Amino acid sequence: QDPRIARISSAIRVIPDFPKPGIMFQDITTLLLDTKAFKDTIDLFVERYRDKNISVVAGVEARGFIFGPPIALAIGAKFVPMRKPNKLPGKVISEEYSLEYGTDIMEMHVGAVEAGERALVIDDLIATGGTLCAAVKLLERVGVHVVECACVIELLGLKGRERLGDRPLFVLVNST
Ligand code: PRP
Ligand code: MG
Repeated sequence: QDPRIARISSAIRVIPDFPKPGIMFQDITTLLLDTKAFKDTIDLFVERYRDKNISVVAGVEARGFIFGPPIALAIGAKFVPMRKPNKLPGKVISEEYSLEYGTDIMEMHVGAVEAGERALVIDDLIATGGTLCAAVKLLERVGVHVVECACVIELLGLKGRERLGDRPLFVLVNST
């Protein structure tokens, strides 16, 4: 394993019982405070994606907005925000997805991407996979090829990876 991974892993703070009892919250704000670990995080993604002919980095609100833009800049791709509902001012396409309780909606601007483009979808963490899956579906609906989904952290046990089907998922750190 790349020696940078251990430092990244230890820079992520785990807060028990947030936002509710029983949840071990993976707090990436402490990773952002560690200038070496944050840079290593971005570098690891950039090294993986720089030669993959990716023209779009799609980041999922909110924490995908932290990791997506530096990767996009470094690999020469555009950044497309996948937003919570009623935030984007232009014409949007929407995808409903399930949460632990109820549903949410993700939106993307029409015209932000073109059919045939190659995308990387980025977020901080995959749990059930519902969020990443919605982002992938939005892109695929408009004919974009999702080359890979990438997260800093994968919560094992919730089977989020299975929800993505045979679409590849790359993560830096696994957590239980
Ligand atoms: C968290 C996390 C992922 C998502 C993962 O975001 O940042 O986006 O949950 O969960 P899933 O795999 O079960 O869909 P959250 O919706 O809590 O909000 P935020 O990023 O805006 O803080
Ligand atoms: Mg999120």
